[in-house]
Amino acid sequence: MGFKEEIKRRRTFAIISHPDAGKTTLTEKLLLFGGAIHVAGAVKSNKIKKTATSDFMEIEKQRGISVATSVMGFEYEGCKVNILDTPGHQDFAEDTFRTLTAVDSVIIVVDAAKGVETQTRKLMEVCRMRHTPVMVFINKMDRPSKDPFDLLDEVEEELKIKVRPLSWPAGSGNTFKGVYNLFEKSLFLFEPNKQTLEDGISISNINDAQIDESIGDKAAKLLREELELVEGVYPPFENETYLSGNVAPVFFGSALNNFGVRELLNCFLKIAPSPLPSQAEERLVMPDEEKFTGFVFKIHANMDPNHRNRLAFVKVCSGKFERNTNYLHVRHGKNMKFSSPTAFMADKKSIIDEAYPGDIVGIPDSGNFKIGDTITQGEKIHYKGLPSFSPELFRYIENDDPMKAKQLAKGIDQLMDEGVAQLFTSQFNGRKVIGTVGALQFEVIQYRLLHEYGASCRYEAINLHKACWLRSTDKVQLDDFKKRKLQYMAKDKSGRDVFMADSGYMLQMAQDNFKNIEFHFTSEF
Ligand code: G4P
Repeated sequence: MGFKEEIKRRRTFAIISHPDAGKTTLTEKLLLFGGAIHVAGAVKSNKIKKTATSDFMEIEKQRGISVATSVMGFEYEGCKVNILDTPGHQDFAEDTFRTLTAVDSVIIVVDAAKGVETQTRKLMEVCRMRHTPVMVFINKMDRPSKDPFDLLDEVEEELKIKVRPLSWPAGSGNTFKGVYNLFEKSLFLFEPNKQTLEDGISISNINDAQIDESIGDKAAKLLREELELVEGVYPPFENETYLSGNVAPVFFGSALNNFGVRELLNCFLKIAPSPLPSQAEERLVMPDEEKFTGFVFKIHANMDPNHRNRLAFVKVCSGKFERNTNYLHVRHGKNMKFSSPTAFMADKKSIIDEAYPGDIVGIPDSGNFKIGDTITQGEKIHYKGLPSFSPELFRYIENDDPMKAKQLAKGIDQLMDEGVAQLFTSQFNGRKVIGTVGALQFEVIQYRLLHEYGASCRYEAINLHKACWLRSTDKVQLDDFKKRKLQYMAKDKSGRDVFMADSGYMLQMAQDNFKNIEFHFTSEF
């Protein structure tokens, strides 16, 4: 197969949802279709959920929360599908944001009874910023659900995107009979607890009397009426509006019962984008350019507790990535060869010789990489879009075991490179401050420092409101500000000036009094 065909057949995407909407269940069902995992009859199994597929970090097993994201690749109907898993827990939202920079499209799972929830709303904002094409799967139709029209209105309103149903449910909960596929014009009948991968019964004509026989006269009448309404209310589906991120196709189903999942997957493979161009600071890079480029969007530590190595996840943006070839690590300005790059098939990884745009390659790393690093075949470009957001919670971090100071320093350094949290060093007293998005990260850091680096730390409270990055063309004013506010000035990990405001009022005053200084709430501006 040629280089361009390889790119065209790739679909790299993430499934996002509010916790409990069914992201894990849907991911498992998709993996079953791809043959990436094998479970008799796709039975719901706690064992799979807790040990295999996406959760392989020790800490995740302990907490039962998907702390880190992982990649699952599989072949299906001629396509190479790469699912990038994202942590559901909101404290790890930043991990999810970064993963969204590495995907070409997104599937959003919504619980049919609960509708759109907070976490989904936040994640959708990131998709909207990047114009990522999104598809919606309304899950748990086997349970009593909200009215489908109300659900669609809610999605439009809450996620601020137009919708176009491509399938339609006949009833819900106890009366759930099946789903009519508007994309392929066929009716699939729901058989509870069947949970197999066999095809449903397909009825192509909506006026076919077989529908009345199968789901009853009343349900058939309602379905026909609703379908008529759907076609009247929503404009016909156009692929371009989906690809530009303006319209989200919507599917209904039940991931647990494996119902509606295949229709979602089939349509997804047909319409979802293959790898898109990537924006570097210097220029737009096309995936079919001959030379390899890629960037690190995630670093996973200690997958094997017996070895200290980390795994840097590289998204291939252009060209063919090849094993044992010299590539430029742009930030270090040095060439590196990778002898054991890995690809991911569910929980298994294997060494690969080559990878194409859209693929994610895992590179064993002993500390050379940090999030956002660009690797190329020689060109000095820098991929954008991996900003640090201003943390919301802050604590001083102190060494709790004087014998392990070195280990602690190394541990903190590496955890920050992984993007677990952000480190600020006070310019006033040299103390180190950890900033995070969620409270759980403090525990994660403490746990990992102890278990992976043998270092103990303790935290001390600090009263801070926000950290902001400063920029100004007025050097005199900036220097004056830094002198006056020395007590509140810190350096971030790359040595940039950060103002640590202790209240909203103080920040406002600073903004009012120093008009020539820009205060930024993300590190990329
Ligand atoms: P998440 O990754 O988005 O957090 O959700 P997950 O897939 O873990 O699903 C959350 C719960 O919802 C699970 O139940 C799961 O079995 C259930 N679920 C998922 N899809 C469907 C569906 O289509 N219909 C119904 N009725 N339930 C569904 P749980 O009891 O929390 O998990 P478990 O411990 O029984 O596995």
